[in-house]
Amino acid sequence: MSELRGRISGCGSYVPEFILSNAGIEKMVETTDAWITARTGIKQRRITLNEKTSVVAAKAAKEALAAASVSPRDIDLVITGTVTPDMVFPSTSCFVQQELGIRPGIPAFDISAACSGFLYALDCADKYIRAGGVKKALVIGVDIFSRILDWTDRATCVLFGDGAGAVVLTETRGKSGILSSHIHSDGRQWEMLYTPGSIGSNPFEERKHLPGPRNAYLKMKGNETFKVAVRTMGGAIKEELQANSLKPSDIALLIPHQANIRIIDAVGERLGLSSGQVFSNIDRYGNTSAASIPIALDEALKAGKIKKGDIVMFVSFGGGLTWASAAVRW
Ligand code: ACO
Repeated sequence: MSELRGRISGCGSYVPEFILSNAGIEKMVETTDAWITARTGIKQRRITLNEKTSVVAAKAAKEALAAASVSPRDIDLVITGTVTPDMVFPSTSCFVQQELGIRPGIPAFDISAACSGFLYALDCADKYIRAGGVKKALVIGVDIFSRILDWTDRATCVLFGDGAGAVVLTETRGKSGILSSHIHSDGRQWEMLYTPGSIGSNPFEERKHLPGPRNAYLKMKGNETFKVAVRTMGGAIKEELQANSLKPSDIALLIPHQANIRIIDAVGERLGLSSGQVFSNIDRYGNTSAASIPIALDEALKAGKIKKGDIVMFVSFGGGLTWASAAVRW
């Protein structure tokens, strides 16, 4: 009998209706469609107007449950990757549990790993399944970066969009499922990409170390992040290939975090992958952080780009620094 592991039995995604095109951003900051397209590959992104993170997440999760033909009552675990929750607490997962009528009493919690949030959550859920006890897990990646962007900073506001993606991970002893996954972090490099947030001080603290005004906004060293992203994502895929004695040519589809088309192309080139082996939808959604991989997976599945037996590879990179990967046999 094969080992116990998680299998993606259903996938869903949701993006807000409102489309902000590059032409729309041209009216807000000094930029051009030509610059954004050439430097990032992004043509438009979706922006939420009045939906909470948990509501966006629940819409994607509902679709994943329907695709897996799994009732919310049968879910044993909810894990959400997000850095833009509705509140400091409760977790987004608890709100989704309530919203979808998932059984009270099961564990539901969030993971903070920025753009690697979904793969961190997937890794964690798979390990719960492998340990026994959890048969069906709901794994969500959701972020609403439009709320943490400085919309006067052209170097960052053009890059991101809002959305959510989700999968149901079901216990299996079959040949298909998550073959391996790896998660990593390097806190020494946190200043490359961060959002200070709005945590206040207590009356006993000296305030000078706290973030100043505009502390709610994302900050990024774009150029350095670019180089580290290419290097770490390339290395993470090699680690996954090695763990499974696979070659790059065995990958039917690589679904990388959608941060920048130039990063995606450079990672593909490093591994000698053809353009048909690498999925991208960054032109329509921009970087949706933790949501980017499950949204892309959902689109790839709906477009019939994945068939039974295929080796599908996921890889991500984000603030922390964090990076993660997973190899799946479909
Ligand atoms: N429109 C026009 N010009 C711009 C814009 C813009 N929107 N943004 C920056 N510029 C200018 C800069 O001011 C600079 O001008 P200068 O040469 O006069 O100083 C010039 O364009 C070049 O700027 P660079 O930063 O060198 O441009 P680069 O080619 O590096 O592209 C980018 C910038 C797109 C941000 C790129 O560095 C990148 O994609 N970095 C990685 C981003 C990323 O992966 N983030 C991960 C997020 S994951 C997570 O966890 C959230």
